[in-house]
Order: sequence, then C-alpha cells, then structure tokens
Amino acid sequence: TSTSIIVKVPGPADFHVHLRQGDLCELVTPHVLQGGFSLAYVMPNLAPPIKNSDQALAYKSTLEQIEPGVQYLMTLYLSLELTPHEIRKAKQAGITGVKSYPRGVTTNSETGIESYTAYYPVFEEMQNQDMVLNLHGEVPSDPSTNTCVMNAERHFLKHLETLHRDFPRLRIVLEHATTKEAVETVKRLGSTVACTITAHHLALTVDDWAGQSFHFCKPVAKYPEDREALRAVIREGHPRFFLGSDSAPHTVNKKATATPNQACAAGVYTAPILLPLVAHLLESFGALDRLAAFTSGNGRAFYKVQTTNLRAVTLRREPFRIAESLSLKDEQVAPFWAGKELNWSIGS
Ligand code: NCD
Ligand code: DOR
Ligand code: ZN
Ligand code: ZN
Repeated sequence: TSTSIIVKVPGPADFHVHLRQGDLCELVTPHVLQGGFSLAYVMPNLAPPIKNSDQALAYKSTLEQIEPGVQYLMTLYLSLELTPHEIRKAKQAGITGVKSYPRGVTTNSETGIESYTAYYPVFEEMQNQDMVLNLHGEVPSDPSTNTCVMNAERHFLKHLETLHRDFPRLRIVLEHATTKEAVETVKRLGSTVACTITAHHLALTVDDWAGQSFHFCKPVAKYPEDREALRAVIREGHPRFFLGSDSAPHTVNKKATATPNQACAAGVYTAPILLPLVAHLLESFGALDRLAAFTSGNGRAFYKVQTTNLRAVTLRREPFRIAESLSLKDEQVAPFWAGKELNWSIGS
C-alpha cells in the first residue's frame, strides 16, 4: 500500500554466487533478478571448472541468454593451467577475478590448490593487471593438527596475511567470512583486502546446521560470538565488508540425505529471496541503514564497477512468504527458510 515503509537500494550487487550448469542453471539464474539483484559475481566451480577465458566467455553468454537482465562478472578457477599469459588474455576479455579453492574443502574442489607459492607468477601478473583474487578461506581438515571445519578458517588467515604481504597491491577478497578472527584480520590489513559476508552466516550458528542439512555449507556457521562479529562490522558500516551471498543451490535429493552413509551437499540457497532476506536480517540487528552500502556501494567501490546512475530496487515493509521449493524439469531446489515469512518484500 502507499502507506508502507520503503527502502531503496541502487543496483543491488551479489559479489559471490553459484549459477551452476545445465537444467539447474536454467532454474536458478533468473532467481538472481527475482531476488532483487542486477549484478552477479559468478563462481567458476562447475564440473569441469572454468579454467580459461574462452570457457568463462562461453559460460557468460549462456547466462546472458537465460537472464539478460543481470550483469555477470566472471571468474576463473585457479589451477596450474592458469599462466601469466592467460591472465593478460583474461583481463582483455573482461574477466574480473580468479577464485582459489584449497584442495578438497568444498563442492568441486578436488582440483583445488595445495600451495600458493606455485602461483606467485600468476598473482604477480594479476597484480599488474589489477585483477581480483578471491579466496575460499579454509584449510583442509587434518586430525593430526586438530584441524576441522570449526577452525579451518582461523588456520587459513596466515595464508591471507602472507599473500597480502607478498602482493600488497593485489586486490584480495576473503570470501564468506564466518569468524571474529577473520573480521579482525581483514580490518587490520590494508585497503586492498576486502571481505564478503553471506546472508545465511548472519542468521545461523553451529546449532542451526548440526542436524539440519539444508543449513550445512562451507564454511560452516560458527559460534554466536562469531555471528555477532559479522553483524557488528556491518552495523559499523566498514567499507571493505560487503554482501557475497554464496548462494549455492543443490537439488533437494542432494541436500536431504536418506541413507546412513550419504553425506549431504554443502550449500545454502538464498538467491531467490536475497534482498528481502538481507533487509530482514539487517533490521533484526539494527543495521537497516547500512543496507544500500552493504548490498551495493561497498562492493561496487572495491571492484571498481559502476556506482552512479544505478536503477534502484524498492523494498516495502510488508510480509513476504518464502516458497517451499522451486523447480524446473527434474531439478528441484529449496530456498533458505522455506515456508517462513520475511518482514520485507520487493515492491515497485
Ligand atoms: C552441479 C551441476 O550444476 O551440474 N553443480 C556444479 O557443477 N557445481 C549440481 C550440484 O552440484 O548440485
Ligand atoms: O557451501 C558451499 N557451497 N560452499 C562453497 O564454497 C561452495 C558451494 C557450492 O558450490 O556448493
Ligand atoms: Zn567458497
Ligand atoms: Zn561459494
């Protein structure tokens, strides 16, 4: 109605999203726009991964055919196939960044990296070309050093510090931070280091995913004090922290496991409800005034993409019921908080 409270966000931008391939891609790609977003920073962990410019450009045109209303920024999967020459080619092709996955820690990371030093010539060229390095900030579990999903991010932070020390002008994004220590580290490092925060990590703690497979993702949600650190850095309006949803759809048969020896896929699916969800969450912890900076301005500034003359999306403070599931052909996905009600809906 005309009397409802509204907020406007110019050019909502999701700086970390998984859009998949095949039928699942056709199902989920339009959800970016439906969730309020007109810019998607696209992850490369397909099967097989996107490892060169030609593959990234082909994927980009597939996405544009499915949903032309979104600006897609593309990434390459860091691997030994990536050379300084390929980095120059990628820059010329308009590719924005390179994502590094440590080996074996998450979906399609079997070919991830084991040591960073082998990639120093690539990072050097990325720094020269002003490309962005996106880090999945977890080390692999290792019982002999007491390393597991609860401290995998904390143990990763030394690698972030080393990379920043060795490439101080390289723009680095620590993706989907989940810990107090990660927030402190990114704050301490200079203007070339930023951090994405997901919507679901502003909502969940370990109690919410232990026993609830639809809330299981990598990195796992941590302690209440970690969640509070993520909320606090948004509340204070720190410019190097911004939204990257890590919206990671898996079909319901991969999320809900029906047999004792089957592990569920890691990923929380937020894209279809993303802007109302983020408004709902920020309001719940007193940060609604940071919505536009967190979901657009901060990330756009760090990535040096358009920050003016952006089309605004209007949110109304009216209840919005989240769908139970969404499907296309044989693909069925369940959004985060399926069936629940949010306090905000996308209006016109
Ligand atoms: C799979 C796909 O889309 O084929 N994902 C992927 O490649 N990252 C599906 C899935 O893992 O759920
Ligand atoms: O939970 C996750 N799912 N974390 C990731 O890093 C990858 C993602 C996926 O692709 O499913
Ligand atoms: Zn990741
Ligand atoms: Zn991700």
